Amino acid sequence: MSLEESITKRRSIRGFRPQALNRKQIAQLCWAAQGVTDPKRGFRASPSAGALYPLELYVVTADAVEHYVPNQHALEKHLEGDLRPALQAAALDQPCVGQAPAVFVVTAVVSRTARKYGPRAMRYVLIEVGHASENLLLQATAMGLGAVPVGAMRDEEVTKALSLPAEHVPLYLIPVGVPNKQ
Ligand SMILES: Cc1cc2nc3c(=O)[nH]c(=O)nc-3n(C[C@H](O)[C@H](O)[C@H](O)COP(=O)(O)O)c2cc1C
Repeated sequence: MSLEESITKRRSIRGFRPQALNRKQIAQLCWAAQGVTDPKRGFRASPSAGALYPLELYVVTADAVEHYVPNQHALEKHLEGDLRPALQAAALDQPCVGQAPAVFVVTAVVSRTARKYGPRAMRYVLIEVGHASENLLLQATAMGLGAVPVGAMRDEEVTKALSLPAEHVPLYLIPVGVPNKQ
């Protein structure tokens, strides 16, 4: 699929078939958001102010919560078990969050950017969340998957539900799955 076709076809999809995403699909979606595309210099798939890379990406599935490690292109286990119901509750009970086979959680460590950019850090971090998330949404579309960006959530409840480190501030949830063609 061309980039133009992916942009044209991307729509917010909120209904999913129950089938799980496979490891390759999950890895590809992580890569599109935060993968290392220039290993020599450590640059990533989406731009970052000062190349400081404040974003931390998590994936919530029926089995576990995993954390993406860009430099290794690997997922490390963060929590065992299905945390999607708790995440749905924290996201104002939106069913797409609990029903998606995978929910990507974009978080940020604002202090990484603030060290260089001071009070402009939050502005830059929020712009970066948009860059990374759009990459993920377009990649999902190109793979025939459906996704929706979710901003409505109780931040502290998300942090608690997923036992996120205090400095990993949750900013965006992206439920992804095979679209439910009703
Ligand atoms: C910042 C932001 C927050 C959003 N939050 C939610 C949300 O909490 N729940 C939801 O179902 N859709 C959410 N959306 C998706 C929008 O509803 C959707 O993008 C809009 O209706 C346009 O449709 P499209 O994405 O198919 O082009 C959000 C979109 C943005 C950009």
